[in-house]
Amino acid sequence: MEKELIEKLYLTANLTDKELGRLIENRTNEDFALLSERARQRCNEEYGNKVYMRGLIEFSSYCKNDCLYCGLRRSNKNAQRYRLSAEEIISCCETGYKLGFRTFVLQGGEDAFYSDDLFCEIIRSVKKKFPDAAVTLSLGERSHNSFKRLFEAGADRYLLRHETADSEHYGRLHPKELSLENRMSCLKSLKEIGYQTGCGFMVGSPYQTTDCIVKDLRFIKDFQPHMVGIGPFIPHKDTPFGEEKAGTLELTLFLLSIIRLLLPKVLLPATTALGTISPTGREQGIKAGANVVMPNLSPVGVRKKYAIYDNKICTGEEAAECLECLGRRVKTAGGELVVDRGDSKIPIK
Ligand code: 5AD
Ligand code: FES
Repeated sequence: MEKELIEKLYLTANLTDKELGRLIENRTNEDFALLSERARQRCNEEYGNKVYMRGLIEFSSYCKNDCLYCGLRRSNKNAQRYRLSAEEIISCCETGYKLGFRTFVLQGGEDAFYSDDLFCEIIRSVKKKFPDAAVTLSLGERSHNSFKRLFEAGADRYLLRHETADSEHYGRLHPKELSLENRMSCLKSLKEIGYQTGCGFMVGSPYQTTDCIVKDLRFIKDFQPHMVGIGPFIPHKDTPFGEEKAGTLELTLFLLSIIRLLLPKVLLPATTALGTISPTGREQGIKAGANVVMPNLSPVGVRKKYAIYDNKICTGEEAAECLECLGRRVKTAGGELVVDRGDSKIPIK
C-alpha cells in the first residue's frame, strides 16, 4: 500500500511526476479508501460540507468542430441540432434563480451563429436581471479579443477543458486543425483577462496512458485553475470512438481525490458523466472530494438533443425535479447544497 505517498500528498499538496505515476499504477482499494478520506478532509477544511450548484444551460447543439469523441461533432449527421434564443436563455435563468441557483453556466458547441455582440447582449441581460448571480461561459476556443469583450460584458468565469496535456494524445483525439498549443494559449488568455478559469480532461479517453494522466495533473498543479472538470469518457455511437471502452468510475474517483489534494481550494464538480456511468457516481464523487454539482436547466424539450455521449442522465426531468433529486443525493453523501455564487477562494490572477 502507498500510505506514505498519500500522506505526503496530503501534507505537501504535491508529489513528483514519478510518485504520481506510481500512486496511479499501483493503486489498491485500500489506497483509494485512505486517499478519498484525506481528500474529503481537505475539502472540509476549505469549504466545509458545502456543495455549490451551477445551473447548466446547453444553448446550442451546433458545433463547427469535429472532435473524435464528441456526439455534437459536425460530421455526425444523426445529431439533432437546436439553438436557444436570448429570450429562451433568460427564461432558463429565471427558472433557475427561483430555485436558488446563483451561477448560470452557458455551454454550447462552437457555433458561429452566436457572435460576440449577441453573447455580450445575453451576458448583460442576465447580469442586469440577476446582479447577484455569476455567469460562467463554456463556449470553446475564441480569440483573446473575444474573451475580453465577453468578460467586459460581465462574464465571471470560463470553462475550457484542456482535454489532455500530452500533445501527441491531443492529436489522436482531435482533427488536425485543433492543437494543444492553441488550447493552452486560450487558457492563458482567460486567466490573464481575469476570469475564474477552469480546465480539465476526460478519464479513460482512447489512447490515454498513465503518462498522459501524470502530464494532466502536472499541468493542473502548475496552471492553478480555479475549477477543474473531469469525468469519464463515454462512447457515443455515432462517433469514430463509438466502439471504444468507457473510462471507469474507480479511476475517476481516484483522480478527483488526487486533484483535491494537489489544489485544496479548487472548485471540483461531480459531473453528469460520473452520474451516467454509475447511478451513485455523483454521490461517490462528493465523498471523494468534489464540491460542485451542475444540474441541467436547459428546457426539457432540447435536453436529449445535447448528446455529447450516449445514455446521458437527467434528460427527462424539469429543473425543479432535478434539483430535488440532486439535493437528496448530495445529502446522502454528507454534503449540503447551498444557495451561493460559490466563488473560488483562489486569487483571480
Ligand atoms: N464522453 C465524456 N465526456 C465528453 N466530452 C465530450 N465528449 C465526451 C464523451 N464522449 C466532454 C469534453 C468537453 C466537455 C464539454 O464534455 O471534455 O470538454
Ligand atoms: Fe437530475 Fe436526478 S439529478 S433527475
